[in-house]
Amino acid sequence: MPTPSSPKFLRKTAAAARASFAIAGTLLLAGCSQINFWQMDGHQTSMVTAGPVAESQLQVFYTTVWVTAIIFVVVASVLAYATIKFKARDQDDENAPPPPQSHGNPLIELSLIGVSVLALVFIAFPTLRAIWFTYDVPEEERENAYVIDATGYQWWFKFDYPQEQIDGVGTLSVANEMVIPAGRPVRINLRTVDVIHSFWVPKLAGKVDMTPNRGNHMWLQADEPGYFWGQCAEYCGDSHAVMRFRVIALSEEDFADWVARTKQPARTVTAATADPARAEKPRVQFASFKRNEYGFSDKWDPRSKVSPLDNWRQQQFPVANEDAALIAQGRKLFQTKTCIACHTVRGHEGMGITGPELTHVGSQTTIAAGLLENTAEQLARWIMHPELVKPGNKMYTTGYIPSEITVNQEEALALVAYLQSLK
Ligand code: CUA
Repeated sequence: MPTPSSPKFLRKTAAAARASFAIAGTLLLAGCSQINFWQMDGHQTSMVTAGPVAESQLQVFYTTVWVTAIIFVVVASVLAYATIKFKARDQDDENAPPPPQSHGNPLIELSLIGVSVLALVFIAFPTLRAIWFTYDVPEEERENAYVIDATGYQWWFKFDYPQEQIDGVGTLSVANEMVIPAGRPVRINLRTVDVIHSFWVPKLAGKVDMTPNRGNHMWLQADEPGYFWGQCAEYCGDSHAVMRFRVIALSEEDFADWVARTKQPARTVTAATADPARAEKPRVQFASFKRNEYGFSDKWDPRSKVSPLDNWRQQQFPVANEDAALIAQGRKLFQTKTCIACHTVRGHEGMGITGPELTHVGSQTTIAAGLLENTAEQLARWIMHPELVKPGNKMYTTGYIPSEITVNQEEALALVAYLQSLK
């Protein structure tokens, strides 16, 4: 057995350290291959910001990092110096009695206290300034702020637009993809209908909780048009980790277009509006549905050259090959399979409010609260196997599945065609 100071022991320790660094490095690089590691950029990074709220929070982070980094370097240097200077060099040192003990040096102790207080004050000023700044839209911009009410549900988000009213209906409402005007402060009122959730768009603003029986609020601003990833950041049950959403920031003009489009009731595709010659069934590989399978195509890879905002724009237009008969069949199934009890489709039969509104679900880039890409394949997967996609969700626990309503492949294709037609 080598002793802790023998050359053999040291060689073994060094080899073990090198091996663990190599393994840790490989794992880190493998884990980070989905993101731009060196710029610390990725879909949900808070190190690359796109608006003033996230920027002020990042500055507080850097201030704290620099102050604590300096403290670390000073303490580590003193420790290293003392370790090397006072270490036992021979057998006499080993056997020597301990040096005279004292109660410390008042000058050193007072300076340490003084420096600590200074460091805290240095961190406190930008922190307090950021707390005030991020609490609410700055006074001079409050008039210009756009208001959205965000509500958390297990496990999706509803966004109501109180400034956009629809005659005979009420407030414009969408689910899981919050569209906002760029370059303008957005004040978000945060609510929940069930448990505590937390609203987080890393590139735009830090987390704020959605708490039962207590109104919370936050604000954010996207300086430029863009497409941002959001995530529930408070553990809220089975599918907390997949309770996601998107924020799409548009220029003032594009935003007005989106509002006008979204206020419209659901689109109805008839034989006259579809092109029967080009009609084809949605293409779905039914055999490939798996639990926890990634739900996005390559075009959503962070290294892909297509911008996510362009993907969103493409999604706004109806596809050329709509099959009016199949869509009509899907609309009927949407009633008979009891989907209408939980989902609203304004202008069509859907009247439910416990699930996301689907009036324009076809123009979203994602489904299942930002978890899957909005394609025929993923829609079919979500409809037929909700429990494999999002454990504990209401389609599975209280919806059509416990009522023993099944959806076969042919019916899934019709439902998919209907939902995709809802642009
Ligand atoms: Cu909602 Cu976690």
